[in-house]
Amino acid sequence: MSKIKGIIYDLDGVLVHTDNLHFEAWSGIAERLGITFTAEDNNRLRGVSRMESLDILLSLGPVELSAEEKLTLATEKNDEYVRLLDRLTPGDADPGVVETLEVLWQWGIKQAIGSSSKNAVPILKRIGLLDAFDAIADGTTISASKPDPEVFLQAAEKLGLAPADCIVVEDAFAGVDAAIAAGMRCVAIGDATAHEGATWTIQALPELLNVV
Ligand code: BG6
Ligand code: MG
Repeated sequence: MSKIKGIIYDLDGVLVHTDNLHFEAWSGIAERLGITFTAEDNNRLRGVSRMESLDILLSLGPVELSAEEKLTLATEKNDEYVRLLDRLTPGDADPGVVETLEVLWQWGIKQAIGSSSKNAVPILKRIGLLDAFDAIADGTTISASKPDPEVFLQAAEKLGLAPADCIVVEDAFAGVDAAIAAGMRCVAIGDATAHEGATWTIQALPELLNVV
């Protein structure tokens, strides 16, 4: 088995929990459309792009919208989400994240972000982790969202590493699928631990130190 030289982290749900903020922002849109949208429905949006998230939300009700109307709603949702992101502080990074990244850095492991979000950089800034990574691949740099492998392949390329030398840390089923499609082994955390394709499962990020 190839030596682990790089770790590519999904952001939302792995390093910081933003799902309640996504939920709050999507709930406002759903309410306006008369669609019932539960926290369980919100879990289906994990790892998928903003526009795909909107399509999932719309599939819950009898609402038909034009492409232009969808774009307007997605923009309104994001405006609200960005307002909510103002609440994030360095204390919102998940427990043990800062310390774990630091130990792995000392071990000489390269580390990157591989996120579907177009808000990855502002989120990293708010939680004080923007400078903690050697590379960032995110929703602003890719054209196909998870489960497409593009974001992880791009992150590996930016690290200058072969996919087989990288592992991915993911909380979303779509993300584990993307890692497998990229030819990378995957550490599953949270919901993704139920995915049978994950190589390892962990309950909290510091357990990553037992994997590497
Ligand atoms: C992912 C989240 O990280 O980013 C998804 O898990 C979200 O729930 C996606 O839809 C896109 O986020 P953004 O910030 O570009 O709307
Ligand atoms: Mg995630």
